[in-house]
Amino acid sequence: MKVAIIMGSDSDWGVMKAAVDTLKKFGVNVEVTVASAHRTPQKVYDSVKNSDAQIFIAAAGMAAHLAGVTASLTTKPVIGVPINSEPFKGLDSLLSTVQMPSGVPVATMAVNGAKNAALFAVEILALQNDTLAEKLITFRESMAAEIDVKDSKLKEALL
Ligand code: RP5
Repeated sequence: MKVAIIMGSDSDWGVMKAAVDTLKKFGVNVEVTVASAHRTPQKVYDSVKNSDAQIFIAAAGMAAHLAGVTASLTTKPVIGVPINSEPFKGLDSLLSTVQMPSGVPVATMAVNGAKNAALFAVEILALQNDTLAEKLITFRESMAAEIDVKDSKLKEALL
């Protein structure tokens, strides 16, 4: 099982590290490549065509065409992460990533949604992997338990 993460710039790493951390936590192999749809289009092409990953996560800011270009090069699932950037706070990258014309889909996450991108990739892989499916259930249960702890602490503090 492998997920390939492509980032438009190393400046996206601060956000995308969460995706790598999450995939590793689930025991999924990950390869990370910095390649830009407009600065290094050939590198994007080569990275996608030569990858043996089952799923791609493409992250870019501003006029974020990286996820769409990635999706144009493969029929594997492509998950897009719009990166928050100036001057439009990620709205530009969100629209560039989510508004794919019909026929070439990109599963677009929230702006800076790196962790959810990784979890969504794990969910796809878990369709054919019972161990991963179990880990996802455990993950959801631990999140719920954390909420209960926070709820109890808040109630105690308000007494
Ligand atoms: C995009 O432009 C990158 O994905 C990044 O989010 C943004 C700025 O890139 P740098 O100028 O920091 O390299 O292509």
